Amino acid sequence: MKLTSIAAVLGLAALTTATQVLPRNTDANDYYVLHLERDTSPDEVARSLGLSYEGLLGELQDHHVFGARKTGDDIVKRELSERRRRKRSLNDRHVLDGVRFAQKQQLRAPWEKRTLPPALAGPANLVPRQGEAPVESAVARQKSVAKTLQINDPIFHQQWHLFNPVQVGHDVNVTDVWLQGITGKNATVAIVDDGLDMYSDDLKDNYYAAGSYDFNDKGPEPRPRLSDDRHGTRCAGEVSAVRNNVCGVGVAYDSKIAGLRILSKLITDADEAVAMNYDFQHNQIYSCSWGPPDDGRSMDAPGVLIRRAMLNAVQNGRGGLGSIYVFASGNGAANDDNCNFDGYTNSIYSITVGAVDRKGEHPYYSEKCSASLVVTYSSGGGDAIHTTDVGQNACYDQHGGTSAAAPLAAGIFALVLQVRPDLSWRDMQYLAMDTAVPIQTDVPGEWQTTTIGKKYSHTFAYGKVDSYGMVEAAKTWKNVKPQAWFYSPWIHVNQDIPQGDQGLTVAFEVTADMLKEANLERLEHVTVTMNVEHTRRGDLSVDLISPNQVVSHLSVTRRLDNTEAGYDDWTFMSVVHWGESGVGTWTIIVKDTKVNEHSGKFVDWHLKLWGESIDPAKAKVLPMPTDEDDDNHSLISTTTLPASTTTLPPDPAATETELPTTTASDHPDRPVNSKPTDTTTTSSTISTASPTTSAAPDTSATPGTSTWLPSFLPTFGVSGRTQAWIYGALALIVVFCSGLAVYFWMARRKRLRNAAGRDDYEFELLDEEEAEGLASGEKKMGGAAAGKKARRTRGGELYDAFAGGSDDDEDDEKRSTMLLATVMTRRRVVMIGL
Ligand SMILES: *[C@@H]1O[C@H](CO)[C@@H](O)[C@H](O)[C@H]1NC(C)=O
Ligand SMILES: *[C@@H]1O[C@H](CO)[C@@H](O)[C@H](O)[C@H]1NC(C)=O
Ligand SMILES: *[C@@H]1O[C@H](CO)[C@@H](O)[C@H](O)[C@H]1NC(C)=O
Repeated sequence: MKLTSIAAVLGLAALTTATQVLPRNTDANDYYVLHLERDTSPDEVARSLGLSYEGLLGELQDHHVFGARKTGDDIVKRELSERRRRKRSLNDRHVLDGVRFAQKQQLRAPWEKRTLPPALAGPANLVPRQGEAPVESAVARQKSVAKTLQINDPIFHQQWHLFNPVQVGHDVNVTDVWLQGITGKNATVAIVDDGLDMYSDDLKDNYYAAGSYDFNDKGPEPRPRLSDDRHGTRCAGEVSAVRNNVCGVGVAYDSKIAGLRILSKLITDADEAVAMNYDFQHNQIYSCSWGPPDDGRSMDAPGVLIRRAMLNAVQNGRGGLGSIYVFASGNGAANDDNCNFDGYTNSIYSITVGAVDRKGEHPYYSEKCSASLVVTYSSGGGDAIHTTDVGQNACYDQHGGTSAAAPLAAGIFALVLQVRPDLSWRDMQYLAMDTAVPIQTDVPGEWQTTTIGKKYSHTFAYGKVDSYGMVEAAKTWKNVKPQAWFYSPWIHVNQDIPQGDQGLTVAFEVTADMLKEANLERLEHVTVTMNVEHTRRGDLSVDLISPNQVVSHLSVTRRLDNTEAGYDDWTFMSVVHWGESGVGTWTIIVKDTKVNEHSGKFVDWHLKLWGESIDPAKAKVLPMPTDEDDDNHSLISTTTLPASTTTLPPDPAATETELPTTTASDHPDRPVNSKPTDTTTTSSTISTASPTTSAAPDTSATPGTSTWLPSFLPTFGVSGRTQAWIYGALALIVVFCSGLAVYFWMARRKRLRNAAGRDDYEFELLDEEEAEGLASGEKKMGGAAAGKKARRTRGGELYDAFAGGSDDDEDDEKRSTMLLATVMTRRRVVMIGL
């Protein structure tokens, strides 16, 4: 015991101030990362704090690592606060005044791989796919391509994602790119994962050792060591499996491939930050098929050091053009998970990639969100991705999940970089967005047309990556100007969120002058940082509507998310507004669609618009993020429009056709009719309030809960045929729902004949007092409180009125109640539609 700690101390003393990763002994030592003023000497800081100086933290400027014998304490924090306490005057200078940030490093569990167990990835291709014989001409074409390119890899013909002879067209459309000699030469992709088998005969010729490192077992070779360290190798094979006689080929089979091993053991934020910048002048693309758990409950983001590393990479990586981060959207769709609850996938610095299966269908696992940019092929539809495995000559035919989609996209981006190594990280996003091919466009309500005429679906993003289209567009792409941004002030709301389909709506007006001042010409990303207090996070959902009426579903309800919290300075992101000017009224709608005992309050929010600058000469460098960035919620805005409730959620499908330009009457900032006393009044409120909105299908929700909405669209502006269809469907629904409602109602009444006077179950979402409070836009605390109370009572009544049955029935009854509630709400909507 003693000996090891002495050895550790000796080891520490022997460490040099190298700028790269150092072997660390986290059993015996604590490590600290300090951000110092440029003129502060790390050696002096080390002396002052009694620490050993271990060197720079990877590529992060002025960030240094220090070590100390392990204690239970954060000795740096203690010393720094002691110093601040003792500081007598401004002239009392001390070396510790040069410490801008300090963080003790904690080992934490590694992030989750975005893989799926083989059983879930779909039945193996061993099961013959019925009625799916290869198309003869396609097989001939595949053979001829292989011959021309001298691809003799034994499983190439199974790699349908590269060339699909069965579902012709459902592949990444790469062969004509290869035939031009574009195969990823001179491009390098780093697989940030659980290792990479650099001794595999299918990878070794493309392996890039200088860009590789093992952060888990500290060493230059990211060799897989654990039995399940196979994920990274499989991902690497998709990108860069060598064209030879082993397994198949990568989509960029002449690219270089590096491995950064971070997923196999506990890790610190400091190590992950170094990994995310590792050799970032040569590692051009970082492929990341991992992140916070996809359990439909987690809401997690990278720590501040990792966020700094990612910003550092886009500012300084690749000679200043910016590293390309590619992230898998996540596999939690069946758990109602959404990639906007993951701080990596919703970062503006990452390209988020979802999955589509070999039939062009959305696989059950692939997470959707407004931050998703593109999709590409992966498992589902009876097959998976065929790639390299760990071992000298091993193949795998069950690779899947969004884990397999991200590297495929990363490989395609490598092809693009061969042609245009001068593209910036934002150029790459533009190209991906611009050349993606929409699929399943006939699914009603799935796609909306954006302001620049692109189609966007929260499921399929801008569509699937088309290698040929993207490379061709890249050849003549004109680089975009530097980035600019506009931050709105914090917009204080502090109002209760009504339960039900309504929401609390707040608008913010962005003027042309504001954007001119911000040097912002046109939008790329939009982020919203917000605070919502709630007793059940999974009940909340948030939509953002742009001045052009393009809708982002920033957040969705999550049936498994019982967290007793709302959103705490959480940032949601959207790529849906790409190309808009940003000028006009931005509207956010926070909804609590689950009518239950859980309720909450919308506290405040803050809009950030990111995009291309007007004048590149005025472009600025974004400062590094800090943990205090969101601390000052001071409000100095006079442009905030009052909060109000909307009567209906916006319909993304409504934007499918040309939208009317914004008029005063379709702004939800008007006072809402405060007396929805009967259906007729409600209807007229709705129809005058939101002509462009209607019940939106919340595709991520489950039927049978109150958020489920059928995909009928009482919206005008669709074709006559569609309207006829809609009305037919509506009529049927009305008849069915009315029947159902009457049936339930009668049944209930019978059982509840004792509860006289309590059968008034048709809850309303606004009571008079509250509505007035909201409409006036003032913070009428009394009114709001009363409103909250009244609503709760009503919810309680609704609940009680049906809670008369036995315990066994209770759940079913709640469900029926919910359904009925939905039905009743629905019926009103229908009447408006008709
Ligand atoms: C696929 O590539 C071909 C050329 O090989 C091109 O003509 C076509 O437009 C591309 N995209 C699609 C969706 O077919
Ligand atoms: C590869 O990249 C280097 C610099 O990054 C460049 O000088 C060289 O011309 C490139 N080679 C090819 C074949 O594009
Ligand atoms: C918070 O921000 C406001 C407006 O930008 C500013 O006036 C105020 O000084 C800031 N407060 C602190 C404590 O930084």
